[in-house]
Amino acid sequence: MKILSIETSCDDTCITIFEAKGGIKNASFKILANSSNSQINTHIPYGGVYPVMAKREHIKNLPIVFEKSWKEAKIKKIDLIAVTYGPGLEMCLWEGITFAQKLAKKWKVPIVPVNHMEGHIWSVLLQEPTISKSEFLISKKIQMPAIALLVSGGHTQLVLVKGFGKYEIIGETLDDAVGEAFDKVARMLDLPYPGGPHISALAEKLRNIPLLRGGSLARRGGKIHPPPPSGTPQEENFKLPRPMLYSKNFNFSFAGLKTAVLYLIRDLKKQHSNILQNDKIKQAIALEFENAAIECLVYKTAKAIEKYKVKTLIVGGGVAANKYLRNEIKKIKKIKIYFPTPLLSGDNSIMIGVAGYLNYVKNKSRPQASGKNEPQNIKAVGNLRF
Ligand code: KG4
Ligand code: ZN
Repeated sequence: MKILSIETSCDDTCITIFEAKGGIKNASFKILANSSNSQINTHIPYGGVYPVMAKREHIKNLPIVFEKSWKEAKIKKIDLIAVTYGPGLEMCLWEGITFAQKLAKKWKVPIVPVNHMEGHIWSVLLQEPTISKSEFLISKKIQMPAIALLVSGGHTQLVLVKGFGKYEIIGETLDDAVGEAFDKVARMLDLPYPGGPHISALAEKLRNIPLLRGGSLARRGGKIHPPPPSGTPQEENFKLPRPMLYSKNFNFSFAGLKTAVLYLIRDLKKQHSNILQNDKIKQAIALEFENAAIECLVYKTAKAIEKYKVKTLIVGGGVAANKYLRNEIKKIKKIKIYFPTPLLSGDNSIMIGVAGYLNYVKNKSRPQASGKNEPQNIKAVGNLRF
């Protein structure tokens, strides 16, 4: 069947057209067209996503991105529309939904509403460089149950995935999402939005110098809180907290870490007012912040894997692109790890189409409990949970 999928939950306007077949066990996808429009440049002056502006951009970009995909796909008919209905910025979600509703009415086709986080989980199914003709078999490729670590600008969750459609959140952030913390710390260091890649690039510059690396769980034989790396200049020997590392649950907290960076910069400014012009100090702050944030993620993920005795780990969401996270998580033993390709770690409509098709196939065999999936009844749910 031919599927058109739409993603507008945050600051990316994305549309993909697929050919999908095979059902849940033997699903295979061929991507016929994939277009998106990132709003990063619009939001840079605000240092983050400005919802009203994002909504306006979606209104402007949806018809453009649609036209581009439609021309590229060279098809005459769509059988199903998949659209993100949450979680995300509600006013942005509505733009994708109403666009989908208009197309569904015109083409007389059903809409399947998709949970954005479910999209991030199954984003790992498609591997580059075969993205234009991706074929995969879920049951053969991914052993269930799995733990999914979902890390983005809006979420930080550990999810027990028992199978397609069977999810249980076993831990999550109690305040800021890890991507949000990366973005806020980047702002404190005068780095542009989105800050994650910039922090990571700064940290990487020092990470290659052995004495300054710190942070690696594996190098420390799994022990937490190493002595500060010796032989480093005093002012670059920063130590930030690892919030909730020892808590007896799988929750996270990043607000305190972010505030600790704020206080560190404030104190440093008392000593040198032009601290943000000092590349070495900025790199050292970025390095210690990244070490602290990633240590919390990796440690709790390893604990969850141990407790639930799973053999599979899925890592999804924008922060899954982080090089240090990838390297550290790969050190967890006896586990098969799936990462999205860099193209699919951030928000995209490919993952929405994949999750949409699988949901459609799964629910088709069951009678609808209510008309809530009738195209005109689909509603945006900003705080949607599994
Ligand atoms: O999944 P995503 O594209 O959008 C949301 O659903 O939020 O994630 C965006 C987040 C941003 O906070 C961005 O700074 C972060 O992912 N991010 C990174 C990296 N690349 C993107 N964080 C750390 N390291 C990266 N390399
Ligand atoms: Zn996302």
